[in-house]
Amino acid sequence: MTARTLYAAGITGTGMSFPDKVLTNRALEQMVETNDDWIVERTGIKERRICEPGVPASVHGIAAARQALAMAKADPAEIDLIVVPTVTPDMMFPSTCCIIQNALGCKNAWGYDLVAACSSFIFALQTVRAQIEAGAVRKALVIGTEVMSSITDYTDRNTCILFGDGAGAVVVERLPAGRQGILDHLHFIDGTGGQFLYMPAGGSLHPASAETVARRMHYIKQEGREVYKFAVKGMASATEQILARNQLTGRDVKLFVPHQANLRIIEGVARRVGLADEQVAVTIDRFGNTTSATIPSALHIYRERGVLQPGDVVVLCAFGAGFTWGATLLRWTVGA
Ligand code: UT7
Repeated sequence: MTARTLYAAGITGTGMSFPDKVLTNRALEQMVETNDDWIVERTGIKERRICEPGVPASVHGIAAARQALAMAKADPAEIDLIVVPTVTPDMMFPSTCCIIQNALGCKNAWGYDLVAACSSFIFALQTVRAQIEAGAVRKALVIGTEVMSSITDYTDRNTCILFGDGAGAVVVERLPAGRQGILDHLHFIDGTGGQFLYMPAGGSLHPASAETVARRMHYIKQEGREVYKFAVKGMASATEQILARNQLTGRDVKLFVPHQANLRIIEGVARRVGLADEQVAVTIDRFGNTTSATIPSALHIYRERGVLQPGDVVVLCAFGAGFTWGATLLRWTVGA
């Protein structure tokens, strides 16, 4: 914590919500030229959840946020700030944040959506932490919610096997004096990586037209091999740096919560940092890559399993389109 920090910020509630509909690898075999063995071996994904057509990102975001609020024993009216990391907002505007704010009845909150692809959640967490530490905000919600199926091309086997839908949320609040919560962050962007993972149309460069639709430009495009290389390097380096500059090592970490894009990436990063399997959160087998929802939903799942105790050192780490990447170091505060 720096000298300018007035207060500490910590996570006091978690929640998640996933659609009921399961899309298995076997079902994908009927859609594209792929097979269960390839998907499991190359990605670790066995199944993912998919929304019914017409269900927008706000729906699971609202449900995850309600759960997080209940756990934090927070009244919606107490929330000062809502940040919604997402690449699949309900619509371009108004922000999904405003839609969720209205549904939850957070009548005293301001907020916004934040776009940093798969790093969105940790970037959002940092913006909220900074507001709380400065004394401008007391209680906030960060809600990562995605309907990745709405931008996934189910004729492209390179990408359609990877993504799933769902949401994860946390309540972050000012901690009583003397308590430690979110301790440090280390974030990076590098726009030279933009060419490897992107959705070409729907923005001002290529507004929606009959041509953009015909050319399938409203779907995710990825050069997986390139992204993979940068992801392992960036995530491992950010984690090593954030631990070292806080005089910690891998042995001090109770739980490492990486973005869930590929089990081989997660294992590669964990190996480089020196983490054992039981220190690493893995949810990709059941949910695939849910972009901004992977980290908050994994936190919720591991908290429910009773893995985390107050005071435990937790490292969050992500890598995504942009490129964007980074790590967050925190002491677990829920239940304290
Ligand atoms: O969340 C944001 C960040 N995103 C990531 O971190 C994703 C990073 N990338 C990856 O996770 C991996 O690169 C993928 C899982 C996307 C792909 O795995 P890979 O081991 O890098 O495979 P590849 O793209 O090098 O393809 C290997 C082979 C190719 O065939 P040839 O050219 O060797 O004959 C592909 O055409 O596998 C083929 N292939 C498939 N085969 C069966 C690609 N997709 C499939 C598929 N089923 N679904």
